[in-house]
Amino acid sequence: MAIIAVACEKGGAAKTTTAMLMARDIARRGQTAVVLDADISGGATTWAQTAEENGEKLPFPVISVNLPQLKRPRIQTMAGKETWVFIDTPPSDTGVLQAAINTADLTIVPTQTGDADLVLALETYAAAPSALLLLTRVKQRTNSAKQAMRRLAEENIGRFDAVVPEREAIRRLYGTDGYDKLDYPMVVQELMDFMEQEAPRW
Ligand SMILES: Nc1ncnc2c1ncn2[C@@H]1O[C@H](COP(=O)(O)OP(=O)(O)OP(=O)(O)O)[C@@H](O)[C@H]1O
Ligand SMILES: [Mg+2]
Repeated sequence: MAIIAVACEKGGAAKTTTAMLMARDIARRGQTAVVLDADISGGATTWAQTAEENGEKLPFPVISVNLPQLKRPRIQTMAGKETWVFIDTPPSDTGVLQAAINTADLTIVPTQTGDADLVLALETYAAAPSALLLLTRVKQRTNSAKQAMRRLAEENIGRFDAVVPEREAIRRLYGTDGYDKLDYPMVVQELMDFMEQEAPRW
């Protein structure tokens, strides 16, 4: 079992999208994934329900969880051993956010590239024992993206090499069983490589 928290204090950073599309890609590869929805507003749960109502049942479960359930043994009971667990977290409930990143093997911090976005993303990054930033909704070839990448390199902040551009095709996947074929598969591959190197118990 690998537990991946998807967390960022900034709202709208693409946490839910990242958790759902990474789990979806893992299912596409024939592996087992589960999304734990730790956000009381239930974005991941609504995504799964909407898909199901439209006759598109997702190939992985989305389970709503609360603070005391965010402990490794509890998660293992809910999710099973051979599973990639993604915890979708709320932007502002710091108790839930901290519990998720403490229990996780790795925290993925999705963030847009603006200065105001990075301030909050780096706070989440610093609060996590093991974390990687994921640049999302990137408007490529803009100064903002270039500056962010330069700054992260200078400050030695760990990040995914893959970046997720702002794409209408990704936005439209909300509430469907569709999967992203271009960007999230590269993020998942990097995650798998990282986990193999850094967390041999997986
Ligand atoms: N790569 C992308 N390209 C275009 N739109 C995107 C992309 N990623 C996410 N979005 C859109 O951005 C919005 C915010 O994404 P999402 O709900 O995943 O963020 P969040 O961090 O979970 O937000 P919250 O903090 O409210 O939980 C959604 O409308 C989503 O469809
Ligand atoms: Mg969300």
